[in-house]
Amino acid sequence: MDWRGQSVSVRETGKGSAILLLHGYPLDGAMWSGVARALSARFRVLKPDFPGRQDNPTPAPGTIDGYADYVEAILANLRPPVGLVGFSMGGYVALALMKRHPEPVQALALVDTRAASENPEGRAKRDEAIAELRTRGVAAIAEAMVQRLLSPESFSKPDLVERVRRIILRQTPQALESDLAAMRDRPDSTDFVGQITLPSLILVGEHDAISTPAESQTIASAMSRCRLVTIPGAGHLTPMEKPKAVAAILWNFFSETLGVVRS
Ligand code: MLT
Repeated sequence: MDWRGQSVSVRETGKGSAILLLHGYPLDGAMWSGVARALSARFRVLKPDFPGRQDNPTPAPGTIDGYADYVEAILANLRPPVGLVGFSMGGYVALALMKRHPEPVQALALVDTRAASENPEGRAKRDEAIAELRTRGVAAIAEAMVQRLLSPESFSKPDLVERVRRIILRQTPQALESDLAAMRDRPDSTDFVGQITLPSLILVGEHDAISTPAESQTIASAMSRCRLVTIPGAGHLTPMEKPKAVAAILWNFFSETLGVVRS
């Protein structure tokens, strides 16, 4: 599609009601490959890269709302009903977008994410990560992040560890700095989640240390039509750690909540 005068690609697979999968930091749309493959037997599944990445080399905006602008442009090309799924940073983007009440979105899934803005300690850590990125590059981020993203069980799987590392290492420093600045300055959505009336689902890994099950429980309790599901054995990166379980839960949720595509 055309985005701000440049041609960008949005990877998609399958036919049916659209499901839009938003990736997290420091990753790209490929983190959803296993889940997308399973869902594509029934749905049209899109897994875009945020600006500044492989499929979308337009400048990375450095704000969550800037990423939401891009997702809004994708939505403008889709017929309702659309299911929106945000993983972690993608969840921050999904919540920023929901504040704009996008008409095509009829069901929302938040995966291993948070509603609160960054506290002062968290903001300082983002600045440290930016400094580290500037001095030691993307490899330093991969080194710091791979273990944090995975449960101990997942971290013992060399293939999975290698896949996660490969995705991180192909990101540019500019894209990761944009993510870090965007997450540091992200808007608070704790009150907003209470206003979401769409059918909603929250998924969280049992051992997620970044967006904890307790935090997910708090968000789910604040939402009026929300179901919370915990994925046993997963850490933060549940869509890559447990793609079959995540796909099965999303399949059931969206089968129930997305009607037939309007012509
Ligand atoms: C992510 O997975 O997108 C990030 O780790 C989230 C965060 O650091 O807040």
